[in-house]
Amino acid sequence: MSESKGQFNSNIGFIMASVGSAVGLGNLWGFPYKMGTNGGFAFLLLYLILAVFVGASVMLAEFVIGRGTGKGPVEAFREIGQQYTFLGYFAVAASICVLSFYCCLGGYTIKYWTANLIAIFTHSGIFAVSDTATYFMDFVGSGLPAVVCTAVFIIINLVIVLGGVSGGIEKFTTIAMPALFVMLVIVIIKGLTLDGSSGGLLFMYKPHWEVFAGTGWVGVLASAGGQMFFSLSLGMAVMITYGSYLSKKESLVSNTVIVTICDTLVALMAGLAVFPAVFAMGFEPASGPGLLFITLQSVFNTMGAIGPIFGFLLYFLVFIAAITSSISLLEGQTSTLIDAKIRKGQPYNRTALAAIMSLVTLVTNTITTIDGLGTGPLPQPLGMCWLDFFDLLGEGILMPLGSLIVVALVGWVWKIDFIDKEVSIEGNQLHAKGFWNFCFKITAPLGMAMILLGQIDGFFGLGIFS
Ligand code: PHE
Repeated sequence: MSESKGQFNSNIGFIMASVGSAVGLGNLWGFPYKMGTNGGFAFLLLYLILAVFVGASVMLAEFVIGRGTGKGPVEAFREIGQQYTFLGYFAVAASICVLSFYCCLGGYTIKYWTANLIAIFTHSGIFAVSDTATYFMDFVGSGLPAVVCTAVFIIINLVIVLGGVSGGIEKFTTIAMPALFVMLVIVIIKGLTLDGSSGGLLFMYKPHWEVFAGTGWVGVLASAGGQMFFSLSLGMAVMITYGSYLSKKESLVSNTVIVTICDTLVALMAGLAVFPAVFAMGFEPASGPGLLFITLQSVFNTMGAIGPIFGFLLYFLVFIAAITSSISLLEGQTSTLIDAKIRKGQPYNRTALAAIMSLVTLVTNTITTIDGLGTGPLPQPLGMCWLDFFDLLGEGILMPLGSLIVVALVGWVWKIDFIDKEVSIEGNQLHAKGFWNFCFKITAPLGMAMILLGQIDGFFGLGIFS
């Protein structure tokens, strides 16, 4: 039996889903730390410039490709021209790679919010373990318990996607995103009112203009660019897919601007939620899993009986941010399979197709989870842990390479009219056409090339940008 592919009921639903995709682990554990260690306010300035001159055009192009064709990534590119189909495969492959570690991390968040929730109700009201580093590494290396958390995350992901575009994704994100915002504000207020929190503000915001000295700015630009790109969920079949579910009435340019601004705001808020508390409690700033699962849990442990309440709030918030990102990845993959069936004139069953992709995800995430950030028994590809390996393939290579080709095509081959034609319908207009043209021709291809080099440099430690 075939059902229709679905549509967002409202523009606000589309925005919530897209912002939900953009706001994820990248905002919460990547951005604040990178900002703090890469020039503070100076990093923020470069980040914003890149978002305006590179990120926004890639996002607009993806919305145009999706809504213009009404299809998921592979068939959308095929419709534009058979020879471009590979770009769709690039995006879907990148999406599979990123989802291959995202659910493992999502599983960690489940472990932590449940552990803090339990601590609220146990009579001491305090998190059971004081050595948070050992607690984390024990869990990461625990094998089955960690895989169970990963599997639960994958099942929740699947259940939401099975609800469909408007009934599942739109409904869930329309409730989850405002809830996430409220939780974030509560955690920020708590953090800022702790004694000594100003150290965290200084860490993040104090400008270090010296990062611009010599060729230093190129390295910061590359790091800000990689962060921006991942954070905006670009090059991963997500914005094309969500664009294909958007009504022709809505303005693609306004939506691009809104999603970019919201994502950046939440990244800044995440820093306010995390670092003031870290500094107030006398901990060293860190990034990635260490920041989230070790440093922050230590912070909550020092808060006494209210610690688990804030621990639960924060980890639940991170879980929500992760799940609204992972559903967008699964939806992009599912819509690709649905399109393939439609093209062949075969009937399709959304449930079965989403379940197939979830099984793939379960297999790859089991590998990532058992590898336990490189501590497990599995042989390691290229001498890196499996999480880094999937990240290298997806975020490091496929995502920026595909998008570099897309923006260069828009700028030089399809030309700005390709964008204009889809934007300027039903009374909408492509304002500032000259600006967009300039971005697609010059700044976006240059920026994407730099991001690609920066990613490869970062993964292999080549030192090109240092
Ligand atoms: N933007 C998400 C984050 O910041 C990650 C993501 C990338 C989600 C690509 C979907 C597609 O964590």
